[in-house]
Amino acid sequence: MSDYIDEALKALADGDIDRAREAVSGGRTPLLTALAAYLDACADGSVYDQPAAFEAFIDGGGNVGLYREVTSALADVYARVRPSRVLDIGCGDGRALRALASTDVAVTLVEPSAALLDAAVRSLDGFEVDARHGRVEPFAAGLPADAVFDVAQSTFALHTLPHEVRDGVLADLVGHVGVLAVVEFDVPDLVHGSPEHRRFLAEAYERGLTEYDADRALVAQGFLMPVLTGQLVPGATRATWEQPASRWAAQVARAGFTDVHVTPLHDYWWSPAFLLTASGSPAAATPR
Ligand SMILES: C[S@@+](CC[C@H](N)C(=O)[O-])C[C@H]1O[C@@H](n2cnc3c(N)ncnc32)[C@H](O)[C@@H]1O
Repeated sequence: MSDYIDEALKALADGDIDRAREAVSGGRTPLLTALAAYLDACADGSVYDQPAAFEAFIDGGGNVGLYREVTSALADVYARVRPSRVLDIGCGDGRALRALASTDVAVTLVEPSAALLDAAVRSLDGFEVDARHGRVEPFAAGLPADAVFDVAQSTFALHTLPHEVRDGVLADLVGHVGVLAVVEFDVPDLVHGSPEHRRFLAEAYERGLTEYDADRALVAQGFLMPVLTGQLVPGATRATWEQPASRWAAQVARAGFTDVHVTPLHDYWWSPAFLLTASGSPAAATPR
Protein backbone atom coordinates (compact mmCIF):
# COMPACT_ATOMS: atom_id res chain seq x y z
CA MET A 1 0.00 0.00 0.00
CA SER A 2 1.41 3.41 -0.93
CA ASP A 3 1.76 6.12 1.71
CA TYR A 4 -0.39 8.36 -0.52
CA ILE A 5 -3.42 6.07 -0.39
CA ASP A 6 -3.03 5.39 3.32
CA GLU A 7 -2.94 9.12 4.03
CA ALA A 8 -5.96 9.68 1.75
CA LEU A 9 -8.03 6.97 3.43
CA LYS A 10 -7.06 8.29 6.86
CA ALA A 11 -8.14 11.79 5.81
CA LEU A 12 -11.45 10.46 4.44
CA ALA A 13 -12.14 8.64 7.71
CA ASP A 14 -11.47 11.95 9.48
CA GLY A 15 -13.90 13.69 7.12
CA ASP A 16 -11.11 15.88 5.74
CA ILE A 17 -11.76 15.83 1.99
CA ASP A 18 -9.21 18.56 1.18
CA ARG A 19 -6.43 16.57 2.87
CA ALA A 20 -7.54 13.44 0.98
CA ARG A 21 -7.52 15.33 -2.31
CA GLU A 22 -3.99 16.53 -1.65
CA ALA A 23 -2.78 13.03 -0.74
CA VAL A 24 -4.13 11.33 -3.88
CA SER A 25 -2.74 13.98 -6.21
CA GLY A 26 0.73 12.46 -5.74
CA GLY A 27 0.33 8.95 -7.14
CA ARG A 28 -0.41 6.96 -10.26
CA THR A 29 -1.99 3.62 -9.24
CA PRO A 30 -5.52 2.74 -10.47
CA LEU A 31 -6.95 3.53 -7.03
CA LEU A 32 -5.14 6.85 -6.61
CA THR A 33 -6.18 7.94 -10.10
CA ALA A 34 -9.82 6.94 -9.55
CA LEU A 35 -10.04 8.51 -6.11
CA ALA A 36 -8.43 11.76 -7.30
CA ALA A 37 -10.99 12.08 -10.11
CA TYR A 38 -13.86 11.22 -7.78
CA LEU A 39 -12.88 13.72 -5.09
CA ASP A 40 -12.45 16.43 -7.73
CA ALA A 41 -15.94 15.80 -9.10
CA CYS A 42 -17.71 16.27 -5.72
CA ALA A 43 -20.37 13.66 -6.68
CA ASP A 44 -23.38 13.02 -4.44
CA GLY A 45 -22.53 9.37 -3.71
CA SER A 46 -25.69 7.68 -4.98
CA VAL A 47 -25.06 4.51 -7.01
CA TYR A 48 -28.31 2.78 -8.03
CA ASP A 49 -30.62 5.57 -9.30
CA GLN A 50 -28.71 5.98 -12.59
CA PRO A 51 -27.31 2.48 -12.70
CA ALA A 52 -25.09 2.50 -15.84
CA ALA A 53 -21.94 2.19 -13.71
CA PHE A 54 -23.41 -0.50 -11.46
CA GLU A 55 -24.55 -2.45 -14.54
CA ALA A 56 -21.08 -2.21 -16.11
CA PHE A 57 -19.61 -3.32 -12.78
CA ILE A 58 -21.73 -6.47 -12.45
CA ASP A 59 -21.36 -7.30 -16.16
CA GLY A 60 -17.56 -7.40 -15.96
CA GLY A 61 -14.50 -8.49 -13.98
CA GLY A 62 -14.91 -11.07 -11.25
CA ASN A 63 -18.66 -10.51 -11.21
CA VAL A 64 -19.10 -12.82 -14.18
CA GLY A 65 -17.84 -15.83 -12.21
CA LEU A 66 -19.47 -14.59 -9.03
CA TYR A 67 -22.97 -14.40 -10.52
CA ARG A 68 -22.47 -17.80 -12.17
CA GLU A 69 -21.93 -19.26 -8.67
CA VAL A 70 -24.84 -17.27 -7.22
CA THR A 71 -27.20 -18.54 -9.92
CA SER A 72 -26.07 -22.10 -9.45
CA ALA A 73 -26.46 -21.94 -5.64
CA LEU A 74 -29.96 -20.46 -5.96
CA ALA A 75 -30.87 -23.13 -8.52
CA ASP A 76 -30.07 -25.70 -5.82
CA VAL A 77 -32.32 -23.84 -3.36
CA TYR A 78 -35.20 -23.75 -5.87
CA ALA A 79 -34.72 -27.46 -6.66
CA ARG A 80 -34.91 -28.31 -2.96
CA VAL A 81 -37.83 -26.02 -1.99
CA ARG A 82 -39.79 -26.08 -5.28
CA PRO A 83 -41.26 -22.65 -4.52
CA SER A 84 -44.60 -21.32 -5.77
CA ARG A 85 -43.84 -17.85 -4.48
CA VAL A 86 -40.46 -16.15 -4.50
CA LEU A 87 -39.60 -12.76 -3.06
CA ASP A 88 -36.44 -10.95 -4.23
CA ILE A 89 -35.39 -8.09 -1.96
CA GLY A 90 -33.31 -5.47 -3.75
CA CYS A 91 -33.55 -7.48 -6.96
CA GLY A 92 -31.53 -5.03 -9.08
CA ASP A 93 -31.94 -6.02 -12.73
CA GLY A 94 -33.19 -9.47 -11.68
CA ARG A 95 -30.11 -11.44 -12.62
CA ALA A 96 -30.20 -13.56 -9.45
CA LEU A 97 -33.58 -14.94 -10.59
CA ARG A 98 -32.16 -16.45 -13.78
CA ALA A 99 -32.10 -19.88 -12.16
CA LEU A 100 -35.90 -20.05 -11.90
CA ALA A 101 -36.43 -22.97 -14.25
CA SER A 102 -40.22 -22.82 -14.61
CA THR A 103 -42.48 -19.81 -15.12
CA ASP A 104 -45.00 -21.45 -12.77
CA VAL A 105 -43.72 -19.25 -9.94
CA ALA A 106 -45.18 -15.98 -8.67
CA VAL A 107 -42.33 -13.51 -8.19
CA THR A 108 -42.47 -10.44 -5.97
CA LEU A 109 -39.75 -7.87 -6.56
CA VAL A 110 -38.87 -5.08 -4.13
CA GLU A 111 -36.48 -2.51 -5.55
CA PRO A 112 -36.12 1.26 -4.99
CA SER A 113 -34.31 1.94 -8.29
CA ALA A 114 -36.97 2.40 -10.98
CA ALA A 115 -34.46 1.71 -13.77
CA LEU A 116 -33.27 -1.57 -12.22
CA LEU A 117 -36.80 -2.68 -11.36
CA ASP A 118 -37.90 -2.11 -14.97
CA ALA A 119 -35.00 -4.23 -16.19
CA ALA A 120 -35.92 -7.00 -13.72
CA VAL A 121 -39.56 -7.01 -14.82
CA ARG A 122 -38.48 -7.21 -18.47
CA SER A 123 -36.23 -10.17 -17.67
CA LEU A 124 -39.15 -12.10 -16.14
CA ASP A 125 -41.29 -12.35 -19.24
CA GLY A 126 -43.87 -15.12 -18.75
CA PHE A 127 -43.80 -15.02 -14.95
CA GLU A 128 -46.54 -13.65 -12.68
CA VAL A 129 -44.72 -10.61 -11.28
CA ASP A 130 -45.68 -8.27 -8.45
CA ALA A 131 -43.20 -5.40 -8.82
CA ARG A 132 -42.92 -3.10 -5.82
CA HIS A 133 -41.02 0.09 -6.48
CA GLY A 134 -39.64 1.06 -3.08
CA ARG A 135 -37.57 0.08 -0.12
CA VAL A 136 -37.95 -3.21 1.72
CA GLU A 137 -38.49 -1.57 5.12
CA PRO A 138 -42.12 -0.41 4.52
CA PHE A 139 -42.81 -3.46 2.34
CA ALA A 140 -41.82 -5.88 5.13
CA ALA A 141 -43.56 -3.88 7.85
CA GLY A 142 -46.79 -3.77 5.83
CA LEU A 143 -47.08 -7.43 4.81
CA PRO A 144 -50.59 -8.79 5.34
CA ALA A 145 -50.79 -11.53 7.99
CA ASP A 146 -51.38 -14.29 5.42
CA ALA A 147 -48.56 -13.33 3.03
CA VAL A 148 -46.15 -16.23 2.51
CA PHE A 149 -43.07 -16.58 0.31
CA ASP A 150 -41.64 -20.09 -0.05
CA VAL A 151 -38.27 -18.51 -0.81
CA ALA A 152 -37.22 -14.98 0.10
CA GLN A 153 -33.87 -14.19 -1.47
CA SER A 154 -31.57 -11.22 -1.38
CA THR A 155 -28.25 -11.08 -3.19
CA PHE A 156 -25.84 -8.32 -2.16
CA ALA A 157 -28.79 -6.11 -1.18
CA LEU A 158 -29.39 -6.56 2.56
CA HIS A 159 -25.99 -4.89 3.11
CA THR A 160 -27.55 -1.65 1.83
CA LEU A 161 -29.48 -1.45 5.14
CA PRO A 162 -27.90 -0.17 8.34
CA HIS A 163 -27.52 -3.09 10.78
CA GLU A 164 -30.32 -2.03 13.14
CA VAL A 165 -32.72 -1.36 10.24
CA ARG A 166 -31.91 -4.85 8.91
CA ASP A 167 -32.79 -6.30 12.34
CA GLY A 168 -36.28 -4.82 11.97
CA VAL A 169 -36.74 -5.99 8.37
CA LEU A 170 -35.69 -9.57 9.18
CA ALA A 171 -38.02 -9.67 12.20
CA ASP A 172 -40.88 -8.40 10.00
CA LEU A 173 -40.14 -11.08 7.39
CA VAL A 174 -39.60 -14.17 9.54
CA GLY A 175 -43.32 -15.04 9.86
CA HIS A 176 -43.81 -14.81 6.09
CA VAL A 177 -40.86 -16.77 4.76
CA GLY A 178 -40.31 -20.50 4.23
CA VAL A 179 -36.62 -20.39 3.28
CA LEU A 180 -34.45 -17.30 3.43
CA ALA A 181 -31.51 -17.25 0.98
CA VAL A 182 -29.04 -14.42 1.40
CA VAL A 183 -25.84 -13.94 -0.59
CA GLU A 184 -23.29 -11.51 0.83
CA PHE A 185 -19.56 -11.02 1.34
CA ASP A 186 -17.66 -12.37 4.34
CA VAL A 187 -15.72 -9.19 5.12
CA PRO A 188 -13.03 -9.23 7.82
CA ASP A 189 -13.85 -7.81 11.23
CA LEU A 190 -11.62 -4.71 11.35
CA VAL A 191 -11.82 -1.58 13.46
CA HIS A 192 -13.25 1.22 11.31
CA GLY A 193 -10.51 3.53 9.98
CA SER A 194 -7.73 1.53 11.68
CA PRO A 195 -4.44 0.89 9.83
CA GLU A 196 -5.59 -2.71 9.16
CA HIS A 197 -8.91 -1.48 7.77
CA ARG A 198 -7.19 1.08 5.53
CA ARG A 199 -4.75 -1.55 4.26
CA PHE A 200 -7.63 -3.95 3.52
CA LEU A 201 -9.56 -1.27 1.63
CA ALA A 202 -6.52 -0.08 -0.32
CA GLU A 203 -5.42 -3.57 -1.39
CA ALA A 204 -8.94 -4.75 -2.25
CA TYR A 205 -9.90 -1.68 -4.29
CA GLU A 206 -6.59 -1.72 -6.21
CA ARG A 207 -7.37 -5.36 -7.08
CA GLY A 208 -10.99 -4.64 -7.98
CA LEU A 209 -10.20 -1.70 -10.26
CA THR A 210 -7.64 -3.65 -12.26
CA GLU A 211 -10.39 -6.15 -13.22
CA TYR A 212 -11.86 -3.41 -15.45
CA ASP A 213 -10.17 -1.90 -18.45
CA ALA A 214 -12.31 -0.02 -21.00
CA ASP A 215 -15.06 0.47 -18.37
CA ARG A 216 -12.75 1.33 -15.50
CA ALA A 217 -13.54 5.05 -15.32
CA LEU A 218 -17.30 4.47 -15.51
CA VAL A 219 -17.23 1.70 -12.88
CA ALA A 220 -14.90 3.64 -10.61
CA GLN A 221 -16.64 7.01 -10.74
CA GLY A 222 -20.22 5.75 -10.74
CA PHE A 223 -19.92 2.83 -8.34
CA LEU A 224 -16.67 1.81 -6.68
CA MET A 225 -15.44 5.22 -5.48
CA PRO A 226 -18.82 6.26 -4.01
CA VAL A 227 -19.05 2.87 -2.26
CA LEU A 228 -15.50 3.26 -0.91
CA THR A 229 -15.85 6.83 0.30
CA GLY A 230 -19.41 6.26 1.56
CA GLN A 231 -18.17 3.67 4.05
CA LEU A 232 -15.37 5.94 5.30
CA VAL A 233 -16.42 9.58 5.31
CA PRO A 234 -18.59 10.52 8.31
CA GLY A 235 -22.04 11.61 7.13
CA ALA A 236 -21.48 10.67 3.46
CA THR A 237 -24.16 8.92 1.41
CA ARG A 238 -23.51 5.33 2.34
CA ALA A 239 -24.33 2.26 0.20
CA THR A 240 -22.94 -0.57 2.36
CA TRP A 241 -23.15 -1.82 5.93
CA GLU A 242 -21.27 -5.11 5.81
CA GLN A 243 -20.14 -7.62 8.43
CA PRO A 244 -18.43 -11.03 8.69
CA ALA A 245 -20.51 -14.11 7.76
CA SER A 246 -20.69 -15.19 11.42
CA ARG A 247 -22.41 -11.90 12.30
CA TRP A 248 -24.86 -12.31 9.40
CA ALA A 249 -25.74 -15.74 10.79
CA ALA A 250 -26.18 -14.34 14.30
CA GLN A 251 -28.34 -11.48 13.02
CA VAL A 252 -30.65 -13.79 11.08
CA ALA A 253 -30.99 -16.08 14.12
CA ARG A 254 -31.69 -13.06 16.35
CA ALA A 255 -34.65 -12.21 14.11
CA GLY A 256 -36.15 -15.66 14.75
CA PHE A 257 -34.90 -17.67 11.75
CA THR A 258 -33.73 -21.23 12.48
CA ASP A 259 -31.56 -23.84 10.69
CA VAL A 260 -29.09 -21.13 9.73
CA HIS A 261 -26.39 -22.44 7.35
CA VAL A 262 -23.54 -20.55 5.78
CA THR A 263 -21.87 -22.01 2.66
CA PRO A 264 -18.81 -20.44 1.00
CA LEU A 265 -19.61 -19.59 -2.62
CA HIS A 266 -16.84 -17.84 -4.45
CA ASP A 267 -13.52 -16.06 -3.96
CA TYR A 268 -13.84 -12.46 -4.99
CA TRP A 269 -11.55 -9.40 -5.02
CA TRP A 270 -13.48 -7.71 -2.23
CA SER A 271 -14.03 -10.67 0.09
CA PRO A 272 -15.28 -14.25 -0.29
CA ALA A 273 -18.99 -14.50 -1.11
CA PHE A 274 -21.21 -16.88 0.85
CA LEU A 275 -24.77 -18.21 0.72
CA LEU A 276 -26.75 -18.13 3.96
CA THR A 277 -29.93 -20.18 4.15
CA ALA A 278 -32.34 -20.24 7.05
CA SER A 279 -35.91 -21.31 7.84
CA GLY A 280 -38.64 -18.85 8.68
CA SER A 281 -41.92 -19.63 10.40
CA PRO A 282 -44.75 -18.75 8.05
CA ALA A 283 -47.99 -18.75 10.01
CA ALA A 284 -50.31 -19.70 7.16
CA ALA A 285 -49.86 -20.91 3.61
CA THR A 286 -51.85 -18.98 1.04
CA PRO A 287 -53.40 -21.02 -1.76
CA ARG A 288 -52.46 -19.77 -5.22
C1 LIG B 1 -25.47 -4.49 -5.02
S1 LIG B 1 -27.09 -4.27 -5.65
C2 LIG B 1 -27.64 -5.96 -5.86
C3 LIG B 1 -28.73 -6.12 -6.88
C4 LIG B 1 -29.14 -7.56 -7.19
N1 LIG B 1 -29.72 -8.21 -6.04
C5 LIG B 1 -27.98 -8.35 -7.71
O1 LIG B 1 -27.55 -9.32 -7.08
O2 LIG B 1 -27.45 -8.00 -8.78
C6 LIG B 1 -28.02 -3.69 -4.25
C7 LIG B 1 -29.48 -3.48 -4.58
O3 LIG B 1 -30.19 -3.14 -3.37
C8 LIG B 1 -31.13 -2.15 -3.69
N2 LIG B 1 -31.52 -1.43 -2.46
C9 LIG B 1 -30.92 -0.36 -1.90
N3 LIG B 1 -31.58 0.02 -0.79
C10 LIG B 1 -32.63 -0.83 -0.65
C11 LIG B 1 -33.71 -0.95 0.28
N4 LIG B 1 -33.81 -0.13 1.33
N5 LIG B 1 -34.63 -1.92 0.09
C12 LIG B 1 -34.52 -2.78 -0.97
N6 LIG B 1 -33.52 -2.71 -1.87
C13 LIG B 1 -32.58 -1.76 -1.72
C14 LIG B 1 -30.41 -1.27 -4.71
O4 LIG B 1 -31.26 -0.41 -5.42
C15 LIG B 1 -29.73 -2.34 -5.55
O5 LIG B 1 -30.54 -2.79 -6.60
